Amino acid sequence: VARAGEAVRRLTRWHDDFPTPGVRFADLTPVFADAEGFHAVIDCLGACAPDADLVAGVDARGFLLGAGVAASLGTGVVAVRKAGKLPPPVLSREYTLEYGSAALEIPADGIDLKGRRVLLLDDVLATGGTLAAAAGLFAAAGAEVVAAAVVLELSALGGRAHQGDYSLTSIVQL
Ligand code: PRP
Repeated sequence: VARAGEAVRRLTRWHDDFPTPGVRFADLTPVFADAEGFHAVIDCLGACAPDADLVAGVDARGFLLGAGVAASLGTGVVAVRKAGKLPPPVLSREYTLEYGSAALEIPADGIDLKGRRVLLLDDVLATGGTLAAAAGLFAAAGAEVVAAAVVLELSALGGRAHQGDYSLTSIVQL
C-alpha cells in the first residue's frame, strides 16, 4: 500500500474546472504509465479480494485496472460499459455523477454471473454513484460483490456512504 500510495500522490495530475466548472479532475494517467506505480497499484487492488473469481472494471479507466488485476489473480474480467456500447440484452443502472447523469450496463446473457464472487474496480471514488450503480448491476445478475476498490477516494464528496455492504478499499484518501 505504501509504494502504491506514494506513486499516486506523486504522479497524479490535477486539473481544475474539468470537465465542468467547479470540478477538480484527478488524472491518474501518469500513475498507470509508471511501471513501478502501475504494478504497485495492481498488487494492492488484487489483495483486496484474493478469493474473487471474477474482476470487473468500470468505464473507462477501470478497464485498465480490471484487466491488470484479473491477470494477476488468474480470473476473467468484465468491462462495465457506459450506456449504448453493448448490444442487447443488457442490464442497466442509472446514476448521478459529480457532473451530470448517465447509465452503466453489462450483458444480460452470455456470462453466468449467478453466485460469482466479484471484485469491482474503478480509478476514482467521488460522489459514489458510479461504483454503486456498477455494484447494483452485479447484484441484479445474482453475483456477489465481495469487495470494491479504487485508487483514489475523494473523501469530501462522501461517496463511501452510498455504497452497499461490500468492503471498500481506497489506496489514497484525499
Ligand atoms: C469518473 C471516474 C469514476 C467516476 C467517479 O469517471 O473514473 O468512474 O467518475 O465519480 P462518482 O464517484 O462521482 O460517481 P467518468 O464518469 O468521468 O468516466 P470516464 O472514466 O469514462 O472518463
